[in-house]
Amino acid sequence: MDISSLHASLTDSSVASMNMLNEIASGYPEAVSFASGRPQEAFFDVALLHRYLDAYCYHLTDELGYDSREVAALLFQYGRTKGIIADLITRHLEHDEGIAADPESLVVTVGCQEAMFIVMRCLRASDRDVLLAISPVYVGLTGAARLADLPVWPVRSGPDGIDLEDLAAQARRARKAGLRPRACYAMPDFANPSGVSMTESTRRDLLTVAAQSDLLLLEDNPYGLFHHGPRPRTLKALDTRRQVIYLGSFAKIGFPGARVGYVIADQDVTGADGTTAPLAGHLSQIKSMVTVNTSPVAQALIGGKLLLNGCSLRAANRRETDSYVRNLRLLLDGLRDRFPDGSGVTWNTPAGGFFAVVTLPFPADDEALAYCAREHGVLWMPMSHFYVGDGGTYQARLACSQLSPDQITAGLDRFAAFVADKS
Ligand SMILES: Cc1ncc(COP(=O)(O)O)c(C=O)c1O
Repeated sequence: MDISSLHASLTDSSVASMNMLNEIASGYPEAVSFASGRPQEAFFDVALLHRYLDAYCYHLTDELGYDSREVAALLFQYGRTKGIIADLITRHLEHDEGIAADPESLVVTVGCQEAMFIVMRCLRASDRDVLLAISPVYVGLTGAARLADLPVWPVRSGPDGIDLEDLAAQARRARKAGLRPRACYAMPDFANPSGVSMTESTRRDLLTVAAQSDLLLLEDNPYGLFHHGPRPRTLKALDTRRQVIYLGSFAKIGFPGARVGYVIADQDVTGADGTTAPLAGHLSQIKSMVTVNTSPVAQALIGGKLLLNGCSLRAANRRETDSYVRNLRLLLDGLRDRFPDGSGVTWNTPAGGFFAVVTLPFPADDEALAYCAREHGVLWMPMSHFYVGDGGTYQARLACSQLSPDQITAGLDRFAAFVADKS
């Protein structure tokens, strides 16, 4: 069979270049990698898996009154499509995020990635539908949108994290072209890839403009727990009109291997018979045709982690948050020490999170990355991969979450040697 007879996403140029990037990364295992935004591995501990599972089983028997046969059935059997830990997740959201969510409006998914896919699959009713997204955009979102055959229209980001005039203009432009802009995808906290966060006043304005433009907002929040000190509220916490579909992940808070995420969709959907039900129920119907249900064992592990920490992941992740803040500071100070004013190298200064963006005096493309990996032993992500269309040509995303301080220092020395070599 010919590849042209298969889904168009397989021959998409972005898929080809992501494969190429993975090949570069696997070809240089000794390189210092600023490419991947994975969580810190120093705190992983197999003993914790047993503690998490025990804590969840104890919760079932001693707090909810399950007998041992019921506990076994819950863990071993196919499960409820919406998931089994919605009550614990909503307690965490109330505690850490000030979000009051009804457990019935929540679907536990196989990572946030599945949540993004089922939401887009559900919103994409016809070929008139488009998704607006703040650009640069997380590649997992654009990839999942391609699988859902939902075109992504970029909205300018700017220094505030979103250009609200451009958001309104893009919504108008889409409607004028006979299209239906369904929602705007946003990451108000330490965005991937830009690292930028929105102030609370920008978040409020975004909610207002979205309402005026008749748009839902898809809020993706995998990094919000890593604020050091007071933080602006999430869009969902500020949402009084049920405009926000909230996407959550347990990956970056220390357990990507569990593959557990979730979506809160409390929007009312009116059926053909005039009755209303939350959008979450319809997302669950789609999920039942994709993954049936999220592994109950994986949910039990996340549930146990929540229970052992009083449902506060902010408290559970203090050490991790401290190490991410320290790493980002080292990265930004290290850039300043190595690239004085006039060097032609500039960068943004996020207040936290996993990423910063560096602008170079030459194209930071795949070729430059391959050269840098081969000659200087350091990896990063060309920002052009995060743009729908052109953009980011001279920019590199540096991720520092997974590295030790020594690796950051060594990696920056190598990166500076690469820049000197190419300039
Ligand atoms: C912005 C963003 N959203 C979603 C995800 C995917 O999360 P999960 O691992 O829960 O599928 C990631 C992972 O890197 C991410 O950076």
